[in-house]
Amino acid sequence: MTATSASHPKTPVKLTQSPTWQALKNERTAWKKLHLRDLFARDKKRSARYSLELDDPDETFLLDYSKNLIRPQTLKLLVKLAKEAKVEALRNAMFSGEKINLTENRAVLHTALRGEAPVKVDGHDVIPEVRAVLEQIRVFADRVRPGKWKGSSGQPITDGVNIGLGGAVLGPAMACIALKPYGGNIRVHFVSNVDPSQLVDTLEDLDPATTLFIVASKTFTTQETLLNAQAARTWLLEAAKDEKQIAKHFVAVSTNSEAVNALGIDTDNMFVFWDCVCGRYSLWSAIGLPIALYIGMDAFEELLAGGRDMDTHFKDAPLDQNMPVLMALIGLWYTNFWDAQAYAVLPYEQRLARFPAYLQQLDMESSGKSVTRDGRTVSCATGPVLFGEPGTNGQHAFYQLIHQGTSLIPCDFIAGRESHNDLIGQHGSQHAVLLSNFLAQTEALMRGKILAEAQAELAAEGKTTAQIKALAPHKVFPGNRPTNSILYRKLTPRTLGRLIALYEHKVFVQGALWNVNSYDQWGVELGKQLAKVILPELQGGKPGAHDSSTLGLIRRIRD
Ligand code: F6P
Repeated sequence: MTATSASHPKTPVKLTQSPTWQALKNERTAWKKLHLRDLFARDKKRSARYSLELDDPDETFLLDYSKNLIRPQTLKLLVKLAKEAKVEALRNAMFSGEKINLTENRAVLHTALRGEAPVKVDGHDVIPEVRAVLEQIRVFADRVRPGKWKGSSGQPITDGVNIGLGGAVLGPAMACIALKPYGGNIRVHFVSNVDPSQLVDTLEDLDPATTLFIVASKTFTTQETLLNAQAARTWLLEAAKDEKQIAKHFVAVSTNSEAVNALGIDTDNMFVFWDCVCGRYSLWSAIGLPIALYIGMDAFEELLAGGRDMDTHFKDAPLDQNMPVLMALIGLWYTNFWDAQAYAVLPYEQRLARFPAYLQQLDMESSGKSVTRDGRTVSCATGPVLFGEPGTNGQHAFYQLIHQGTSLIPCDFIAGRESHNDLIGQHGSQHAVLLSNFLAQTEALMRGKILAEAQAELAAEGKTTAQIKALAPHKVFPGNRPTNSILYRKLTPRTLGRLIALYEHKVFVQGALWNVNSYDQWGVELGKQLAKVILPELQGGKPGAHDSSTLGLIRRIRD
């Protein structure tokens, strides 16, 4: 799959100069007098009006965006903005294999990885190649999982260790944790950090005779991944003693067969993916090998089908009924008109614990840009800081700031109607307790608590007038704090696929609106370059020209 021609729909010169942008500023001013509590009181159908559901009776997948700071005119203007930014044209260009990644002159093909219809890049349909790699993964997983693939001593594989960084680990690790109920007999581990402690701690309990390493790197030049792979190789050879055994214990996922070969991994054991698949969008490709190894290929295909469900919705639904489009527009509304600089993703699903970390790369590496696609300085703020933790844990840590702090932090709350593991305790279903918290938080953030309510509560507790006066201001919640609620039936592979693709497309739409290239990441290069300069200096070389802070720290480390 190669890419050589470049075409992309033209975007408007500056969205911020459009009358729609100005009208949104006025709309923001109007919002100074509005409160969601009143809007809900006035409009009993607000939730129905501002909810969307995928058309699938068996698998709930619902977005309720009614607890956002929006009203009909707000949405009308935002959707108009999407039209002016030519979001639909860019979306169609992406799905049809056009080279929308301009700085790298590449198509953007993660949707083709889960697609079925032909996608032509330079006149060549890429889908057969995608299917061929998926088939290779199936054959491999079907050998390793039932123990037909034997290690150096003839024993079956029990543990897979994925060595990779960024997109080569965050997606697969997140998905394997999320899909634990579908996990089989192969345990999977993930090593990414060049801090040797991670590899050492991981290998501590593993047996080289039954361990399979998956070295995953798009470029196969990432220093951390190569160092960890070499260390893993040494660990294996200490036990296996024979270089020939490497083939039984190492496979690679990459676009770079020469570098795979140079590391001593047989290219027969290599799973390819393509330059046009960006690392943070790659879990649908061979980068998903650990997922397939863990949950089996049929379940992995279900994950792909979930991504495809969301692709279909994104392609077909009108902009004002389109989940990723609306999430993107509402996110932009807060970033650019409410000065929101952070954004929280809060899964009420412990197994989505790594979902916020996964989304950090997806969103912040895609939208953390200050230059437009055509190389000019952006004229408005772009991507916010994304963070999150599973509820209810986060409630007892950072929610205080979201409820009563001075910043507006829009949140996405995510939950399943059903749990894979309900327990019945003192309060009945433990999952119901989780969900009651999920609902209570979004209601509290929306409603808030006014002074009179705080005073009444204190009076009911028997507090004196002086105590009420002193305490009541602390108990006021401003409310009007926006949230999305995403509700699905149960965390299945298909649901996870839908959820991931929802956020992928949301990020895509925001990139289109801000006119930034969501598919490059030049901002990670400078640190890499400087680390190469500093390494020999730490190892005894003459310190070069650095600032006094860096020089001082180099000396302290060397001492
Ligand atoms: O440095 C950032 C980055 O390029 C990410 O975009 C990518 O996911 C990660 O490094 C790993 O890159 P590779 O897959 O080439 O090892």
